[in-house]
Amino acid sequence: MGHLITVATCNLNQWALDFEGNRDRILQSIVEAKSRGASLRVGPELEIPGYGCLDHFIENDTYLHSWEMYASLLANKETHGILLDIGIPILHKNVKYNCRILSYDGKILLIRPKLWLANDGNYREMRYFTPWQRPRYVEKYVLPRMIQKLTGQVSVDFGDAVISTLDTVIGAETCEELFTPDSPHIGMSLDGVEIITNSSGSHHELRKLNTRLNLITEATTKCGGIYLYANQRGCDGDRLYYDGCALIVVNGEVVAQGSQFSLNDVEVVTATIDLEDVRAYRSQISYGLQCTQTPTYERVHVPIELSPSSITFDARIVPSRPREIRYHRPEEEIALGPACWMWDYVRRCNGAGFFLPLSGGIDSCATATIVHSMCRLVVKAAVEGNEQVIKDARRIANVQDDAWKPTDPVEFASKIFHTCYMGTENSSAETRARAKELSEKIGSYHVDLNMDTLVAAVVSVFEVATGKRPIFKIFGGSQTENLALQNIQARLRMVLAYLFAQLLPWVRGRQTGGLLVLGSANVDECLRGYLTKYDCSSADINPIGSISKTDLKKFIAYAETEFKLPILKEFLEATPTAELEPITENYVQSDEIDMGMTYEELSIFGRLRKIQKCGPYSMFLKLYHEWTPRLTPRQIAEKVKRFFFFYSINRHKMTVMTPAYHAENYSPDDNRFDLRPFLINPRFPWASKKIDEIVEQSEKGLTDNLEQLTVD
Ligand SMILES: *[C@@H]1O[C@H](CO)[C@@H](O)[C@H](O)[C@H]1NC(C)=O
Ligand SMILES: *[C@@H]1O[C@H](CO)[C@@H](O)[C@H](O)[C@H]1NC(C)=O
Ligand SMILES: *[C@@H]1O[C@H](CO)[C@@H](O)[C@H](O)[C@H]1NC(C)=O
Repeated sequence: MGHLITVATCNLNQWALDFEGNRDRILQSIVEAKSRGASLRVGPELEIPGYGCLDHFIENDTYLHSWEMYASLLANKETHGILLDIGIPILHKNVKYNCRILSYDGKILLIRPKLWLANDGNYREMRYFTPWQRPRYVEKYVLPRMIQKLTGQVSVDFGDAVISTLDTVIGAETCEELFTPDSPHIGMSLDGVEIITNSSGSHHELRKLNTRLNLITEATTKCGGIYLYANQRGCDGDRLYYDGCALIVVNGEVVAQGSQFSLNDVEVVTATIDLEDVRAYRSQISYGLQCTQTPTYERVHVPIELSPSSITFDARIVPSRPREIRYHRPEEEIALGPACWMWDYVRRCNGAGFFLPLSGGIDSCATATIVHSMCRLVVKAAVEGNEQVIKDARRIANVQDDAWKPTDPVEFASKIFHTCYMGTENSSAETRARAKELSEKIGSYHVDLNMDTLVAAVVSVFEVATGKRPIFKIFGGSQTENLALQNIQARLRMVLAYLFAQLLPWVRGRQTGGLLVLGSANVDECLRGYLTKYDCSSADINPIGSISKTDLKKFIAYAETEFKLPILKEFLEATPTAELEPITENYVQSDEIDMGMTYEELSIFGRLRKIQKCGPYSMFLKLYHEWTPRLTPRQIAEKVKRFFFFYSINRHKMTVMTPAYHAENYSPDDNRFDLRPFLINPRFPWASKKIDEIVEQSEKGLTDNLEQLTVD
């Protein structure tokens, strides 16, 4: 049979506006696809400029440079002899479109603009692009002169068409279109399209991969067909981590899957498939009747064969077999996603490594463990011979020896990772010892300091200036004094962190380069505002800023065994405390008591607020049903009001939060994801009145019921 074809899709670690780097990675993926015998190669969405250019998509330069890169790809003979589907933004009649260009042998076959744009959550494609709202409509696009010269074509088809080769039909779909209820692949499949390519810029969110992969597999379960999914991977210059997972699916079954997290900049996934499988599948389902009722697509005819008919049988070409989809557990996702993101960040910002204030608590411990995980990934990639990783590692670690490569995560950490315990006379011996031991186990360069003199100096400056001296609450001070004293310590930590981050490399004999300061405020603390503005939650980047306390604990437990770090058990067993108030015989500061709610409750409030789109009133109604009779309506009302009170009075802190890895869909990140005002009446007077009415009603109902019961 002459219907076996090899197809390729890929994960590329593109970087917004890194035009040449992006082009080189595209080229490498094409060369690799060809070397594996592929006759079709699909790449990620907007792969030439990088998916995450955001408002740079409004600049003409982005379109111009994208064409320039595209031209250099077309001109390169290495890209010939394979059907290419490449992602690029295009200006057509002064309107900006998010497009795919299909080409073969240096000639453009079709430009396909995206029909449906992703425009919620982290995505704002409508801000830059216009959707092509003319299904199955095609017109002419006049090519830029530099392309005309190169290909000899003046204009090409632009619109919603499909490519018909001598042996099959190929259609392209882009990311969001898959998620729309009426996806293009249905109409295409019904119109005889056998291979559908889907190019995506999809980001990682905890526990979300299966939703995406289900959509992709379902796309061909119903109508049969071959589905090629390509995705970007890596940091791309923002809070998102695009998480790869390139996939090849035949009739709903996965035959090849790329990795979700990896330090490989270019990962090509290929499979050899039999077009006859699609034809056989479609003959079984009630396909024919619907087909005849489906409007047809314009076909761009290309006289090439993807499966050369000259080869009637070649035993070396083996069809790929169906396989199980691999998923990571959430704990692994936390170990891998933020670690890969940090690696991209540090290598691309030319950092000399990281600096982390280590408190002895869970959160900074989690950040440190993620850095450890990153070091393990770097060593693994270096051992596997990843030259890019070795080169980057050498530069970040400032090793001059060209033969050196990282071979041990602990040794590598000692070169690039710096931790610091910033204690006072009142810090407990336990937190101090835990921090030190963790640093020894993971290899960070550790500084243990006391900042009492600094704190005392600031308090005296205040006293001299005002004649008043604040004292802690436990010694009779007011709430305001108590908070102010804690904030002095907390804010001084930020000053020290930046000082050490700038100078530690110099202390260690290195002439240039500063460290990236890492923050460790978790998503629940951010939501509740349980942190000091401009304390050491203010940092350069925060790997755990959108991960819940509950998940962080699970991650630490996982890392304890997976990374063989028994010390992590001690962190898990300790009571979470900020240790900003003095410890006395009968008082230890505790986070959950301070906050007036548990971390578990915070996650529930967070999800209801963001994902279920609840204001105070509807949140109360939802929880009324979930939490009674365990809690009385009055208790629930109190909790909801308390949450909204603290959330509102602290919302201003979200406007200056450290950029955090986006991992959780209830993240309160005000900068990109959760746009809200930061001056809100925290008492929500009207909503509160309505809640109180219900509380009273149900209390009355309860007593009425009770009376009835006693009467009966
Ligand atoms: C704007 O971009 C287009 C490509 O889309 C290019 O042809 C044109 O020359 C650019 N204009 C300027 C002023 O650079
Ligand atoms: C492509 O895949 C994405 C998943 O990343 C999906 O949301 C989208 O709907 C797909 N596009 C099409 C056209 O099916
Ligand atoms: C440590 O605690 C003492 C009281 O036990 C208090 O007077 C002092 O201010 C505290 N120091 C700091 C730096 O908080």
